[in-house]
Amino acid sequence: MKQYIAGSLILLSLFGCTMPGKSTVKDYGNLPEALPQSSGELLFVDIQCTVCHGYQGSGNGFLAEGLATPPPDFSSTAVMNAKSDAELGQAIRQGKGQVMPAYPRLTGQQVTNLVRYIRSLSQTP
Ligand code: HEC
Repeated sequence: MKQYIAGSLILLSLFGCTMPGKSTVKDYGNLPEALPQSSGELLFVDIQCTVCHGYQGSGNGFLAEGLATPPPDFSSTAVMNAKSDAELGQAIRQGKGQVMPAYPRLTGQQVTNLVRYIRSLSQTP
């Protein structure tokens, strides 16, 4: 009898997993990071600006601790209001200071998208 109950519980749990409406392979909802929502965000993650700037742009990427200059906090309105889009774009294209690398191979549109994304991090939606 005990075995019968255990057997049907196992069967039930197996069927439970294949029930429609449960999460499927196409459901990415439980990835640790949400999928990028804009081309700027996609670039930011894809070119790995995140290693220094962090996923939220707050300057806590895993390399940040060892850098001679800390990355600015893109999530701070006070910090970001002091910077123009042109300044941000120039830093991306030409690099800045000792640490921020230049990305001369990005197109103008890609730089614009990155600036727009970085800017959005300090603005509450
Ligand atoms: C190796 C670490 C590193 C990487 C990779 C990196 N950054 Fe930076 N970034 C920095 C640091 C450090 C600063 C601060 C530079 C300074 O003020 O001297 C900075 C500054 C900036 C600034 C602000 C410039 C300003 O006017 O204050 C922008 C915008 C920026 N980074 C965007 C990016 C983008 C976009 C990428 C990816 C394409 C990227 N960074 C990749 C380290 C990095």
